Amino acid sequence: MSTATDTVRAVVEAGGDGAARLMTRLERRLGELATGHGDGLARHAGETIAAGGKRLRPLLVFLSAGAPPPESDAMLRAAVAIELVHSATLVHDDVLDGSPLRRGRPTVVAAGGRLAATATGDLLFSRAFAELVGSRSVAAVRILARASRRLAAGELMQRADAWRAVSEARCIERCRLKTAVLFAAACELGALEGDGDAARLAAFGERIGLAFQLLDDVLDVSGPPERTGKPRGADLLDGTVNLPLIVARERDERLRQLDLRSIATPGDAAAVCARIAATGALEEVRSRALTLVADAKAELPTLPARQRAALELIADGVVERYS
Ligand code: IPE
Ligand code: IPE
Ligand code: MG
Ligand code: MG
Repeated sequence: MSTATDTVRAVVEAGGDGAARLMTRLERRLGELATGHGDGLARHAGETIAAGGKRLRPLLVFLSAGAPPPESDAMLRAAVAIELVHSATLVHDDVLDGSPLRRGRPTVVAAGGRLAATATGDLLFSRAFAELVGSRSVAAVRILARASRRLAAGELMQRADAWRAVSEARCIERCRLKTAVLFAAACELGALEGDGDAARLAAFGERIGLAFQLLDDVLDVSGPPERTGKPRGADLLDGTVNLPLIVARERDERLRQLDLRSIATPGDAAAVCARIAATGALEEVRSRALTLVADAKAELPTLPARQRAALELIADGVVERYS
C-alpha cells in the first residue's frame, strides 16, 4: 500500500524536473513567510507550516498548469498562496472542532489557546493574499477569495448542523464547500497559468476534493492516529454528522436511537466507531469516493498524455491515503 509521501514523490517524478524544482521552491518560500511576524505568531504559524502536510493542493496547482509546469514566479505564488489558505483554515478548523492533534502535533488552539489560534489563522490568510497579489493577477485573487468565502460557509454550516439529523445531500454540500472548492480552486489557478481548460480542470479538482473529504471521514472512524496525525472519532466528539455515520444510522437501529450528545469521551467515541464500521458503512462511503475519482478522471482525456498521467496519479493517491 502506498503512502501519501510515495504518492507525492511519484507525482513529482511524473511532472518532471520542473515540478520537483517548484516543490523545493515552495517549501523554501513557505518557511520564509511563516516567520518574522513577532514571537507568538511567528512561532505558531512557523510550526504549523514546518509540521509538513502532504502539499496536495500546491501539487494540483503545478500539474494543472502542465507536465512539466511552467516555472514562473506567478506559478509559485499561486501554489504558496493556496497552501497558506489551507493551513489557515486548518488552524481555524481546529478551534471550531476543538481538536487536540494536527499533523501529529498539538494544534495551535491546544498549545496556545483560542486567541492565538484565531490570530495565527488570520496571519496565514493575510500572508496568502499578499503573496498572490504579487503575481498581479486579479483573476487569481478572485479565484482564491471565492474559494475562501465558500470554505468559511461550509465550516459554519458544519457547526450549525452539529448533533442534528443531517440529510445526505446536506452533508455532501457541506463537504463540497469546506473541502472540494479549494481543490477546484487549485486546479483553476494552475489552468490560469498553463492556459488549460479551467472548467474541466476545476470539475476534476472538485470531484477529487469531495472524494478526499469522504475518505477523511472514513479515516476519522477507522484511521490509526499514528498514521493520520489526528485523533480517531474526532467528528463524533465534536458533533459532526459525517457520511459514514449517516449511512450507518440507516442500517443500525441502535445507532439511529443514539443521542450523539452522550458521546463524551474518546472511549465512547471508539465504541461508536466500531459500531459504525460493523454496519459496512465505511465500504459504502469508500466506494462512493472511488466513483467520484473515476468521474474526476473522466474530465482529463483531452489533456497531453504526461499531464493526464500525473493528475491521475494524484486522483489515485487520494484513494490510497492514510494520512
Ligand atoms: C485536511 O487536509 C483537511 C481536510 C480537507 C480533510 P489534508 O489532509 O490535505 O491536510 P495536510 O495538509 O496534509 O495536513
Ligand atoms: C475539513 O474538515 C476541514 C477544513 C476544510 C478546514 P475536517 O474537520 O474533517 O478536517 P480535519 O479532519 O480536522 O483535518
Ligand atoms: Mg476538523
Ligand atoms: Mg476530518
